[in-house]
This record gives sequence, C-alpha cells and structure tokens, in this order.
Amino acid sequence: MKNINMYKAMKSELDADIYKLVCSTGIFADSYGIKACIVGGMVRDIFLKRKTVDIDVVVLGDGLKFARFLADKLGGAFKGFEKFKTAKIFLKNGRIDISSARKETYEKPAALPDVVLSGRDEDLFRRDFTINSMAVSINREDFGNLFDPFGGVSDLKKKILKTMHDRSFVDDPTRILRAIRFEARLGFKIEKRTLRFIRKALKENIFENLSGERIREELFILFKEQTPAKAMKRLEQFGVLRKINPGLCLDSKALAMFKTIGSSGRLIRSYHADVPIMYLMALLGTAQPAQALATAVKLKLSNGQRHAIDHGKELQKLQQKDLGKLGKGSSATYFLLKKYGTEALLYLMLMQKDKKRAARIKYYLDELKHIKIEITGDDLKEMGIKEGPEYSKILSAVMKAKLDGRADNREEQLELVRTLAE
Ligand code: CTP
Repeated sequence: MKNINMYKAMKSELDADIYKLVCSTGIFADSYGIKACIVGGMVRDIFLKRKTVDIDVVVLGDGLKFARFLADKLGGAFKGFEKFKTAKIFLKNGRIDISSARKETYEKPAALPDVVLSGRDEDLFRRDFTINSMAVSINREDFGNLFDPFGGVSDLKKKILKTMHDRSFVDDPTRILRAIRFEARLGFKIEKRTLRFIRKALKENIFENLSGERIREELFILFKEQTPAKAMKRLEQFGVLRKINPGLCLDSKALAMFKTIGSSGRLIRSYHADVPIMYLMALLGTAQPAQALATAVKLKLSNGQRHAIDHGKELQKLQQKDLGKLGKGSSATYFLLKKYGTEALLYLMLMQKDKKRAARIKYYLDELKHIKIEITGDDLKEMGIKEGPEYSKILSAVMKAKLDGRADNREEQLELVRTLAE
C-alpha cells in the first residue's frame, strides 16, 4: 500500500482552531517524547470532508501522564480515567480525548473491558469498524502520515462498514447501534460478513448483558442524528428494539412521528426542547403502560424524563372533545395545556393535522404560558381571606378572567377577588 500523507487534507478540512489544537498537541507530544496520533472519527471525517470537532488522540505509552502534562501546557481542565488509561482535557475552544494505545479484553460479553497497553496496530484492531480504525501521526517527524492496517481507506471508497473480528458485537453490543447509525448517517452499507456477526450476536441476546445506561446513551446519540427515522427503521428490521426491551417497537405511527420530529429540528431547538425525549414519546406512544414502564426502568430514565414521557403519552390520548377546547377562548386553551411540559406540547403540536389547532398550541407556548396575574396569595391574605385550598381556586378564577380579557390589571383583579369572596 502506498504511503498516504494527510497534512494537506487536515489543513483544509479541519476548522482553523481545531487544526491549531491538533498541531499544538503534536508539538507538546514531541517535547514530552511520546508518539501521538489523531484517531477514529476525526480521521474518517477528514477523508469524507465532513465537519469534525472531536479530537481523539492516541499515544504510544501512558496517555494519562501525557494528558496531565498537556492539560498543564494548554491551560485546560483535566479528567482522568485510571482503569481505561484515558483522559479528557477541557479547553475554552474545545475538548481533547487522550487514550493510551491499548488492547482490550472482555471478561464477560458486553462488560466494560480490561485494558493493557499495546502498540498502535493492536489499538486500531480493538476498534469497531475499519473506517474508524485509522490513525494519523501528529509528531513533527512524520506529521500527517496515515496508518491504515485494516483497509479503512479502501472501505471508505467502497462505502462499506466492516468490523475487524467476529466477537466485536458480543464484546460491545453498542456497536450494533453504531453500525446502524453510521449506515444511515453516511449512506454506507454494512458488509455481508459483518451483518452475519450482528445477527449472531442478536441471537445470543446480547443486549441482556448490556447496562441500561449504555443503551440509553447510544440511543440518545442516534436520536441526535439529522434523520433518525432511517436508522430506526433498520433497528426495527433487525429486531434490535425488541431485543433491547419487548416494549420498544416502531409501528407506522411512530415512524411517521420520527420523520416529523426529524424535519422540525429548527422549531424544536428554538424551544430548547429535549429532542431525544420527544423521540422516546414516539417510541413509547403506543406501548402498554406496563411495557412503557419496563422500558423506562431498563433505560434508567430519570424521574424528570419519565414524567415528560408520561405527559407525552397522556396528550397523545386526548379525545376530540378535549382538543375541541383549543378552538375556544384563551383560558380554555390555557387550562387544557397548563400542566404539560414543552416536549409533550411540541409533540402534540407536531401531531396535529389541523393547522388551526397546531397554531393554538404554538400560541400557548409563545404567549399564554408566560402570562402571569398581578396579584398573589399575599393580597388575598391582606384582604382577610382565610388561607386554604380556596386560594388556588380564586387565583385560577382571576387567571381565567385575565386570559379572557376581563381583568387586565391589578385593580380589576382585586375587584374580582372581592366579588368572588362575597
Ligand atoms: N470506538 C469503538 N467502539 C465503540 C465506540 C468507539 O471502537 N463502541 C472507537 C472508534 O474507533 C471510534 C472512536 O472510538 O471512531 C471514537 O468514538 P466516538 O467518539 O464515540 O465516535 P466517532 O467514531 O468519533 O463518531 P461520531 O462522529 O459519532 O462522534
């Protein structure tokens, strides 16, 4: 294989500040006396001319010690993981992940690996796919030289995802989700032999051994892709979702919602909503309550996340009679939607075929939700009204009046309280 030097490609494909950081890391690796390479996704994406910001560096030697040295030189915060011999450096303009070239052994399928320091090729061999198993030197003497022992460049050209060995998915089942994610993102194909390995691992019920947190993390990464619908369809085809949990399935309704959410990214972001939670609403929308709960438990969702999904499920079941309230006055809309979080409301909005109803939900999110009345419980107290559950009834009535334009200011609201308290 002819030697490839990536210097020019790095310079033209990486953002200037990222390129500078890569060069500085190389210079400090030289002064520390250690061999360093960028590796994995960054190398892949330089070839594919895709924007890349994650700097993954592998060094031949103790990455933890070098990372401490580098963090000090670059003035960044350092976080080390002794067990895996890896570290992260947090800088104002980015993050560098440093690892020690290592071999991994897995005591049990799907467990976290034990690591032993190794050479560069062994480190590349332990990785998921050939296209992610290339490294590029950043030391001065051979800056830009590509190391591609498993044919990553050739597979990039062929647009295929190929794993290195048959145990890859058993050791780390998250790679099944990664394969499907890359396939959808890059428009690549999983090659036949690799497909066989995936099917074999699934037959071995490999997800049973994988922790819920790791499944959730990987699913959420997938949900952050531009078009998760494509990948989700493949996950369903492979039977991966049901293997993760019997309650997880992608029916045609859920798939349609995945597409709608996927094409509404800008709108959703403008409300700072949690996109993965909205996708989970779609996935669990039609699941029986017991199954939805089992999935939430398996994925170790937080109470807040579970609550948001329950709200989404509740709203998906709203009857026409309730939805009709959206066509009535502002207070009817307000009191129908008031208890629900942003994600559930956006979900409801995106579900609506009726444009007027969707516009009312948007009106709630943009306007009604932020309306406050000008009086509080303290005012009621001063007026001599006995504290108790009456307070919330009175304040709700005042809110209703304000929303319907009957008590716009403090004076009118206090007057209304007087008549209510009579
Ligand atoms: N990797 C692996 N197995 C995994 C996760 C990661 O072998 N389960 C290796 C791959 O070499 C990968 C690298 O670690 O390229 C970095 O992983 P990560 O940052 O998660 O992914 P990227 O490949 O960089 O992809 P993305 O663009 O989605 O961040």
